[in-house]
Amino acid sequence: MIGKPENARYDVAVVGLGYVGIPLALGFAEAGCRVLGSDADEGRLLELQQGHSPLAHLPSSRIKACLASGHLDFNADHDRLSEAAAVIICVPTPLRRHHDPDLSHILDAGAQVAPHLRRGMLVSLESSTYPGTTREELLAVLEKGSGLRAGVDFALVFSPEREDPGNHQSVLGDMPKVIGGLTPACLERGEELYGRVIKHLVPVKDCDTAEAVKLTENIFRFINIALVNELKRIYSSMGIDIWEVIDAAKTKPFGFMPFYPGPGVGGHCIPIDPYYLTWKAKEYHYDTRFIELAGQINRSMPYYAVNHLLEALNSAGRALHGARVLVLGLAYKPGVSDDRGSPSYDIMDLLAAKGADVEYYDPHVPRIAPGRNHWSGRHSIPWSDHELKTFDAAVVCTPHRGVKYDELADHVPLIVDTCHVVPRNRTAKIVDA
Ligand SMILES: NC(=O)c1ccc[n+]([C@@H]2O[C@H](COP(=O)([O-])OP(=O)(O)OC[C@H]3O[C@@H](n4cnc5c(N)ncnc54)[C@H](O)[C@@H]3O)[C@@H](O)[C@H]2O)c1
Repeated sequence: MIGKPENARYDVAVVGLGYVGIPLALGFAEAGCRVLGSDADEGRLLELQQGHSPLAHLPSSRIKACLASGHLDFNADHDRLSEAAAVIICVPTPLRRHHDPDLSHILDAGAQVAPHLRRGMLVSLESSTYPGTTREELLAVLEKGSGLRAGVDFALVFSPEREDPGNHQSVLGDMPKVIGGLTPACLERGEELYGRVIKHLVPVKDCDTAEAVKLTENIFRFINIALVNELKRIYSSMGIDIWEVIDAAKTKPFGFMPFYPGPGVGGHCIPIDPYYLTWKAKEYHYDTRFIELAGQINRSMPYYAVNHLLEALNSAGRALHGARVLVLGLAYKPGVSDDRGSPSYDIMDLLAAKGADVEYYDPHVPRIAPGRNHWSGRHSIPWSDHELKTFDAAVVCTPHRGVKYDELADHVPLIVDTCHVVPRNRTAKIVDA
């Protein structure tokens, strides 16, 4: 066992306060731990210090209650990290332009933590990444900046996050959590920390294995979504409804798990994480052919939707050029405001490139955030009969609950439905795509 530092002011510091870090910090604070939250974005820290939640699905009241109880403290001062018994790093792991991993946030966070490492501290990485990141990359930065040895002077673990945004049934403590340590003693420290908030820990052999578990989970989704997307295209040509097929197939009590087709894949995880393995596998002379193929199919889906719209307009003697088209849903999945990597943007780009007049509606994304992409600053249209009647066509990309799809189908004459949510008994012509 690596002895814990004595008199630590904080039980845990969370570095990176986003979709993963905020619920985690709250989970520890609500369990009675003293928590320090730190983020490179000063605006975000200020917002959190004032008790405002930047995440639409997470109520500010939870943050305010933790601040009021004295269990949660947000601070930009890195010196404070030395007052924590453990540091959990939850920073982004995006892809670079040519689909290779961008570890810069992990390495920067490691470099911030290193000078404040003390004997006995635990460092846990939660960011999704390729096997070897914790053992090779993070370890090197921490040891270099601290002069301490991982596994001897301080403990190092990797424990992937399984946050499921928008799923209100998903509670941090109830979600089984995988954890791997650099050494058995590191694992023991990690289990002691996470055991305070997580009911079921799943220890694995080492950090590399834990990293591989996370990638495997997301690659599984990525490939299965591509499979149903391909089946949708094939069955549609045969006049078979993929949605009816899936509904019937999922009555099989074993050996089948439903995945649903859509306009592509989005978000910060599923379209990105598989390529972390693709990159690392090359070091071992492997090509990740399944991943590449699934990526090609998923990326082709926005073109498939737009082509269906083009053909439907053409059959009605209309052109896409000059048509007023509503894209319904910018978030990458229902019930969330997260529009990162959303295929809706690909569809908007394709429509605009063909001369359509494009607007969007999303109750969770009233305005496209600054710096998101060239659509930044655009607002969602207000929902009204009068407004809907101004459109020639709509493309439904995100199956948000609470949207009045019947009104859409009453007022917009042509709808490309990638999510199978629009009622078929209205006046609009509905095209599945
Ligand atoms: N969003 C999800 O649902 C989800 C689920 C499972 C795993 N993950 C993984 O968790 C990691 C974090 O994802 P996220 O969605 O929470 O990202 P996010 O972008 O919502 O939040 C990350 C935060 O880290 C901060 N940050 C960046 N560099 C920093 C640094 N050097 N020091 C301090 N703060 C820094 C950013 O300002 C941001 O607030 C990623 O690896 C992601 O793949 C995300």
